[in-house]
Amino acid sequence: MSLTWSAKDHKNSNPSAGTGQKRQRNDAGNKATVVLGAQWGDEGKGKVVDLLATEADVVCRCQGGNNAGHTVVVDGKEYDFHLLPSGIINPKSISLIGNGVVIHLPGLFEEGDKNDKKGLKGWEKRLIVSDRAHIVFDFHQVVDGLQETERQAQEGKNIGTTKKGIGPAYSSKASRTGLRVCDLLGDFKDFSTRFKNLVHQYQSMYPSLTVDVEDQLKKLKDYAERLRPMVRDGVYYMYEALHGPPKKILVEGANAALLDIDFGTYPFVTSSNCTVGGACTGLGIPPLNIGDVFGVAKAYTTRVGIGAFPTEQLNAVGELLQTRGHEVGVTTGRKRRCGWLDLVIVRYAHMINGFTAIALTKLDILDVLDEIKVGVAYKLNGKRIPHFPANMDVLQKVEVEYETFPGWKTDTSAARKWNDLPAKAQNYIRFIENHIGVPSRSKFKFFMIF
Ligand code: IMO
Ligand code: MG
Repeated sequence: MSLTWSAKDHKNSNPSAGTGQKRQRNDAGNKATVVLGAQWGDEGKGKVVDLLATEADVVCRCQGGNNAGHTVVVDGKEYDFHLLPSGIINPKSISLIGNGVVIHLPGLFEEGDKNDKKGLKGWEKRLIVSDRAHIVFDFHQVVDGLQETERQAQEGKNIGTTKKGIGPAYSSKASRTGLRVCDLLGDFKDFSTRFKNLVHQYQSMYPSLTVDVEDQLKKLKDYAERLRPMVRDGVYYMYEALHGPPKKILVEGANAALLDIDFGTYPFVTSSNCTVGGACTGLGIPPLNIGDVFGVAKAYTTRVGIGAFPTEQLNAVGELLQTRGHEVGVTTGRKRRCGWLDLVIVRYAHMINGFTAIALTKLDILDVLDEIKVGVAYKLNGKRIPHFPANMDVLQKVEVEYETFPGWKTDTSAARKWNDLPAKAQNYIRFIENHIGVPSRSKFKFFMIF
């Protein structure tokens, strides 16, 4: 997939992270630009972030863990990122893992070392980790697997998690028994006691769970020393970044709106807030310091794992999107489910996030289709419903109303500007803009990734 964006539109839209612009700061401080997934993940957020990251001073992750995943190709080398902010690739920027992220330390160092071997040198010096971030332990990952087995046995279906321990780690956080980076770096005796208590708590819930506590503690002690130089008070660091000299701050969302623990298709969601509020709570950024919020949406829809998917195409169209779009999960290697673009969900994501721009990705995957459909409304018992249903049983039952467009049947993979696109493709994009509730391109500052 090739990519570009309309630099003109983008510059106008984004004073804090625009290209080649004079850096400006208002009295409230610098503003962070936030990039968020507008569907069920894998929209190509990484591509957008990578573009912006080349200019950014600080690139931050605010939520999730190593359940996220994207590949970046630089100078013919492929790097895989799951937990590290992709700004780590830019030797001039600092990457920050915020308090809202859950960190699996073996995973973090494995990812760094693997990419180091490919040429990502000095990453440890460019990474800052919040002392308030919670730790994902190996047993959290085992428990993730046990919970999936239990769900399958009890309900005949699981969530299809990434088994990275995300749910159990956020559960520990919410139940106030979790352990944070500051605990690991504090008194190790105290940390060990709390670690053992946490293990016991899980073992009482899952008697089959075996944990070699001493071995785990030994490893954690080693990780602590490797991590120590990177750890800072994340709140203070962010405050300084926002109120010091002008800086371009970029927040890289992981997962996506429909996987959000509050707004997503619960219970088939992840365990963090992947919508805009997560940028505030996961980094200590006041709402006033949020600048542009870029929503990333694929020109069709994909979903990994279980859960309702109203525009899913279990037919030749779905297969074509899957193969042409290489829709295979970076984290789990699973084939992604595919379907038509669903504007009900993108609009819903916009209601929550207040996107200032939408980046539309992988439009060229649609190049060969004779006709292209877009879901525009949901009907229940023959009647349109104005909202996105909270209840999954209801969502399973909705009937999707489609708008059908003639395919442009032209290779758009080399298109770099709006004018490079065939009229039918422009038409498709215009329709999307209008439907999401955007009066005009310039006002909404729409930009595209082809
Ligand atoms: P990126 O950042 C796609 C999905 C999982 C599963 C559910 C819960 O690459 O877009 P979890 O392991 O988080 O408890 O799994 O959420 N999921 C994602 N799907 N892309 C992601 O991230 C995802 N992160 C979580 O497949 O259905
Ligand atoms: Mg992914």
